[in-house]
Amino acid sequence: MKTKINRREFISAASLAGASLAIGSPTIARSSFGATEKPAILGGTKAFSGKWQGWPIIGPIEEKELLDVLKSGQWCRLGSKTAPRFETEYQKLLGVKHALGLTNGTNALYTMLGALDIGPGDEVIIPPYTFIATYNAVVLHYALPVFVDSDIESFQIDANKIEASITNRTKVLMPVHLGGSPADLDGILSVAEKHKIPVLEDACQAPLAEWKGKSVGNWGLAGAFSFQASKNLNSGEGGAIVTNDDNFFKNCYSFHHQGQGANSASLVPGTGTRGSNFRITEFQAAILLAQMTRLVEQTKLRSENADYLTKLLYQIPGIYPAKLYKGVTRSAYHLYMFRYDKEKFAGMDRAKFIKALESEGVTCSGGYGKMNKESYVTDLAKNKHYLNIYGEKTMKDWLERLNCPENDKLTEQAVWFFQNMLLGTKEDMEHIAEAINKIYKNAAEINKKV
Ligand SMILES: Cc1ncc(COP(=O)(O)O)c(C=O)c1O
Repeated sequence: MKTKINRREFISAASLAGASLAIGSPTIARSSFGATEKPAILGGTKAFSGKWQGWPIIGPIEEKELLDVLKSGQWCRLGSKTAPRFETEYQKLLGVKHALGLTNGTNALYTMLGALDIGPGDEVIIPPYTFIATYNAVVLHYALPVFVDSDIESFQIDANKIEASITNRTKVLMPVHLGGSPADLDGILSVAEKHKIPVLEDACQAPLAEWKGKSVGNWGLAGAFSFQASKNLNSGEGGAIVTNDDNFFKNCYSFHHQGQGANSASLVPGTGTRGSNFRITEFQAAILLAQMTRLVEQTKLRSENADYLTKLLYQIPGIYPAKLYKGVTRSAYHLYMFRYDKEKFAGMDRAKFIKALESEGVTCSGGYGKMNKESYVTDLAKNKHYLNIYGEKTMKDWLERLNCPENDKLTEQAVWFFQNMLLGTKEDMEHIAEAINKIYKNAAEINKKV
C-alpha cells in the first residue's frame, strides 16, 4: 500500500536514489540563493545568463557510424548488421533478454499491444498524465482506453486506484514511467498478478531508469522506449521494445515485420496474420549506437544534478518536487517535475510564475493538459466505429469513467524542466533555485505589477 510520505522521508528517498549511483554527498543545500536580489521580470539581473546544454550532443562517433552505414549500401535492417548491433548493446545495457528496434515509440507501444492481439472490445488501463501517444496506441487497435487517476505527489499513475477500474474486459495495464521516473511497480504488479493481466510498460521517457536495481522494461511482460529527438537517447525518431519473454519477442518481431519473419505467420495459431512495417532503419541504429556511448555518463550526471536541485527546491515553500517511490533506485530524469502552489506565492497564478522564471533565464513548461477532458479524447464517444463496437451505453459510461480529479489538480500545478538542463553544473542548479527564491520573496510585487 502506498502511503503519503513526509518531507523528511522524501529527502531520504531522494538521497537513496542518488546513492545508487555512488555519488558523493552533495554540497550543503543553501535555501536562500537569490533571496535578496531583484527579479528579472521587475528589471533585475537574470539568475541564469548562461546557455543550457544544447541537444543533441554530436561527435565524431556519430559521423563514423553514419558514414559506415551510408557507404555500405545496406540501409535496411533485413540482412543487416547495424540494427542487430544496436539491439544487442541495448539489451545488454538494460540487462534484458531481448531488444527490438522500431521506427518510433508509438509504434513500439502499438506493436506490443498488437502482439497480444488486443482489439475491439478490450480495455487497456493507462494514466491521463502522459503524452497522447500512450492513448493513441490503444485507440488505433479500437480498444477502449481507461484512465486511472494520477498520484499527485509522484505525477505517476496511482497504483492504489487501478483495481477499481478493472473489468472483465481489461486485457492490459499500461503504466507510464513519466518523466523518466519509475511508476509504482510493486503496486502495479501486485494488482496485475491478482487479476492475471499483463503489464506493458510505457518506458518511452525512461531509458536506464531502475526499480530496485533493475531497469524498467524488465518488470512487466515488456517495455517500450522512444528515441525521438527530445529523448535522453535520441535518433531523431526511433523506438525499441524489450522483453524477457521469448514467445512475446517473436510475436513483436512478427507484428513489426508484416506479420512475418523470425517465426510465424500467425500471432495466435489459427487467427491469421496481423502486422505492419515498423522496422528501424540502419541510419537510426547507427546514431543510436553513437549516442549510447554517452548515455550512462549523462544519466549519472542528470541524476546527481536532479538530487541536488531537489534538496534546494524542497526548502522553498510552495515548491514540491515530484516524489520518487521507495523502489526507485534510479530516475532517468527525462523531465524534472515539480508542483507549484500559488497560495504560497501571494496567489500568483502558474502562468505568471512561468513567465517570471523564463525571465530569469530558466527554461520551463507547464507540462501536459487534461488529456481526459480534451475533445480529441472525449469525442471518441461519438466515433461511429466505437459506437458500432461498444454501443451507446458503454461509450456514455466511458465518458463518466474519464473523471480524474487528482490529475485535474496536477495539470494546474505542474512545472517541468528538461533533461538537457540537468547536464550542466551544480552552479546551474543553484541558479535555478536562486531564480525561484527571488520570485518567492517578491511574489506579491510581481503579482501586482505583471
Ligand atoms: C510517454 C510517451 N509515450 C509514447 C511516446 C511516443 O514516442 P514517439 O514520439 O517516439 O513515437 C512518447 C514520446 O514522446 C512518450 O513521451
